[in-house]
Amino acid sequence: MTAVELRVPTNADADPWFELFDDAEVMRFVGSGEVRDREYYAGLVHGQQELAERTGLCLFSVVSDGEVAGFAGILPWSHPWGPTGSLEAGWRLGRRFWGRGLATAAARIAVDLARERGIERLVSMIHADNAASVAVAQRLGMTPSALHRSPAGAPVREFGLLLD
Ligand SMILES: CC(C)(COP(=O)(O)OP(=O)(O)OC[C@H]1O[C@@H](n2cnc3c(N)ncnc32)[C@H](O)[C@@H]1OP(=O)(O)O)[C@@H](O)C(=O)NCCC(=O)NCCS
Repeated sequence: MTAVELRVPTNADADPWFELFDDAEVMRFVGSGEVRDREYYAGLVHGQQELAERTGLCLFSVVSDGEVAGFAGILPWSHPWGPTGSLEAGWRLGRRFWGRGLATAAARIAVDLARERGIERLVSMIHADNAASVAVAQRLGMTPSALHRSPAGAPVREFGLLLD
């Protein structure tokens, strides 16, 4: 098993996030499916740094053998539809890091951090056709609940996990 660790993203992590996710296959089931520019990831990093400062949790950089592989973490569900008020566990890796168990290992670390902070429940919102991500949720012990429709009409399954 490859060693994996999480860290609050550094400003420099915006570059690997952009490069890893500038890939239509990675973005296929994320939002509208569009790839984002470098500035978007610089803004995302800053937002996550602020979130970590406030809550101790955020979308962390996933670092595998010293290399940024993507992100995983816990953040408030911020859309006007879906499980308003919930905290979401999320994960996204660059394609060359798929198939090694890294996303599940990283998500487990993030879930443990949430548990340590006394969080009682997490959700994950996953496009119904995103089998690889559904498999991560299931490996974490998450259970499927409501099927939502995104504003664009995509079927998005809510998964839930009670933490003790
Ligand atoms: C979702 C995503 C992170 C899943 O990545 P992943 O590498 O498939 O997930 P895991 O880390 O759980 O790895 C599981 C795979 O690693 C393999 N594996 C190898 N060693 C393993 C280990 N020690 N433990 C678990 N799995 C291992 C498994 O067999 C499995 O391979 P398979 O897909 O061929 O069956 C990845 O597909 C991704 O980034 N997708 C694009 C972004 C996205 O959709 N994010 C989620 C939005 S809801």
